[in-house]
Amino acid sequence: MQLFMLTLWSVATLLTAGASAILFPRQADAGSPFDWSSITPSPDLQYQDCYGGYKCARLEVPLDWSQPNSTARAAIAILTIPVSVPENDPSFGGTLLFNPGGPGNSAIEFSLALGEQIRAVVDGEKHFEILAFDPRGVGMSTPSADCYHNTFNRVADTLQNMDAAMPPVAASDLGLQLRYSAAEALSKLCAQTAPGPDSIFAHMSTASVARDMLEIVERVDELRQTTQKRANSDKADRTDPLLQFYGISYGTMLGNTFASMFPDRIGRMVLDGIVDADDYLSGKVLTTIADAEKTIDQFYKTCYDAGDSCPLRQKGDKGPSDLRKRVDALLRSLEEEPVATVQDGRYRLVTSFQLRDTIRLCLYDPLSQYEYLAATLASSVAGDYSLLLQGPTVNPFLKEQACMAPDSGDPPAAYSWAYEAAVGVFCGDSYASAGKRNVSWAREAVRQQAKVSFTTGEVWSRLMLSCAGWEFDPKYAFHGPFGSPAPPRSKSDGTIGQAPLLILSNRYDHATPLRNAYALSKQHGGSSVVVQEAVGHTTLLSAQSACMARLIQDYYATGKVPRNGTTCKPDYAAQIPSKPCGEGVAATIFGTTTE
Ligand SMILES: *[C@@H]1O[C@H](CO)[C@@H](O)[C@H](O)[C@H]1NC(C)=O
Ligand SMILES: *[C@@H]1O[C@H](CO)[C@@H](O)[C@H](O)[C@H]1NC(C)=O
Ligand SMILES: *[C@@H]1O[C@H](CO)[C@@H](O)[C@H](O)[C@H]1NC(C)=O
Repeated sequence: MQLFMLTLWSVATLLTAGASAILFPRQADAGSPFDWSSITPSPDLQYQDCYGGYKCARLEVPLDWSQPNSTARAAIAILTIPVSVPENDPSFGGTLLFNPGGPGNSAIEFSLALGEQIRAVVDGEKHFEILAFDPRGVGMSTPSADCYHNTFNRVADTLQNMDAAMPPVAASDLGLQLRYSAAEALSKLCAQTAPGPDSIFAHMSTASVARDMLEIVERVDELRQTTQKRANSDKADRTDPLLQFYGISYGTMLGNTFASMFPDRIGRMVLDGIVDADDYLSGKVLTTIADAEKTIDQFYKTCYDAGDSCPLRQKGDKGPSDLRKRVDALLRSLEEEPVATVQDGRYRLVTSFQLRDTIRLCLYDPLSQYEYLAATLASSVAGDYSLLLQGPTVNPFLKEQACMAPDSGDPPAAYSWAYEAAVGVFCGDSYASAGKRNVSWAREAVRQQAKVSFTTGEVWSRLMLSCAGWEFDPKYAFHGPFGSPAPPRSKSDGTIGQAPLLILSNRYDHATPLRNAYALSKQHGGSSVVVQEAVGHTTLLSAQSACMARLIQDYYATGKVPRNGTTCKPDYAAQIPSKPCGEGVAATIFGTTTE
């Protein structure tokens, strides 16, 4: 679970976003934790049973792919959800790798909770073995991108630097300076904790992770050849194994990088919620919130259309813009003058930053968050901040984490450095373009971001600010050009061949705009964009759509993409109040829409 909520393309952030408890159905026997240190890393894939019904392995790879023969090694943690049919069944579709974004999110944590739902989306005519791996530095992979090795210290630093206790960034230079300095201090700490050329932080570029994926694909193939003891094991006869992949959010940056580095190794690739590669690598990530205000306007429209059912709508309102005016005025007033409140025996500050972040977080998953957002904005406008204070920026995990013993195992028992991992990946990837990033750089970047989105620009700027003073410039890197040619025609016998990319986006996504999907499609020959007519971040996580599921399943089964520009309706739209779970309303991937 994510301790900080700064990982901006993350999915885990969403899980901590609601006013309600986390909607996180555990499916495997995750209650009995698996001891990853019981597996010795190996350069071939050696599985052990784990978590009641899954298979786990630790794959040894070079720490530095530009020096593959050096003795420095990393161990990639892998969790595989077995396929539902025998491998010699004609409907067996092979192995599918999954990345849940972040950067810094643990695919293993994600799959323990939601693996079966992922399977339900991809399994159609063909059935897949789902392989989740924690990218280097992340989760149960080692070495860990952990700057503390002490959970209490991390919590103490987090509290010291709570956003609510700092002045706004855009409105005051002091706010910017304080945040810049805090990030710079963390950069120094990371460089001290993991120093030198063998630091994990020098080797967690997205390119390294893409190369790890190729290694995983080859080792999976090797294992399959061994266990099947194929008669035709004649090497000359065999083609290179291909990647089958589903990546969401930052996972699309990873997929795009793989596709551009190893274009002839793309088997199937679905990228959902597109991060623009050049924008990301610039370190400024400006276009990523290009649709944020449009997305927020969708919320105001839904609220307005709900009439009396939406508490933010008032008598006399003539349109959605009247709702927006009230909220924008509150944001401006909080920027000038934070509000002091007392709640649950504590005093609490309400700042504009907090309100902005609450709005941002709720936009990830409108199905489950619109009702909370409407109630929170309505009560805040009326001067009652209790709902806002219960919400996303008050992290329920802080208390829980503070009671945990320091982690000392290798690999660790629990994952608490998602934020440092995110910084390690993003700041390293963007180092070539942006360098060490001084405060003038940060000031300009924040100014630009606030211009792109009035409501969320300031909170997004935390992502850029997080790279203040970052010193690691990974050697093994890929900075473009991005793209791949249209693949050769599929083999006539229907066996797994190369396919063009299937690119998915919601119509309104405040974190990865639709235009990024079209731009990506331009770069990858034969690819198609499918638009889901919904609001939220990524098609997979924000809505339920039989139409999307059918397209995705057909693609994985046949390698054929639908017409570029195809649209799909979700099974039902976000509404206020939330549609209760029941007749015709399946649980969303995050659980039910009620609670
Ligand atoms: C690493 O070692 C292998 C075999 O020992 C050799 O073929 C290869 O060229 C070496 N690679 C590098 C980059 O030194
Ligand atoms: C900040 O860095 C830029 C280059 O990125 C440089 O031109 C500028 O002089 C630096 N400013 C300060 C105050 O060091
Ligand atoms: C798909 O459509 C978009 C928008 O019209 C276009 O920019 C893109 O180049 C198309 N993709 C391909 C592979 O032709």
